[in-house]
Amino acid sequence: MYVCLCRGITDTQIRQAVQAGKDLRQLRKELGLASQCGKCLPMAKAIIKAELDKV
Ligand code: FES
Repeated sequence: MYVCLCRGITDTQIRQAVQAGKDLRQLRKELGLASQCGKCLPMAKAIIKAELDKV
């Protein structure tokens, strides 16, 4: 599922990045997550949190 429509970033990409030890700041920098309209930020944060809580 697409989380960030502006940059075409999926929840799978976000989950994989979190598993690789990346945080929101790195995702913003490397993928451009939430770097345009910013509407995806709450959803992206929720996915990152859910992924971190899994561990
Ligand atoms: Fe992510 Fe617009 S949907 S910046």
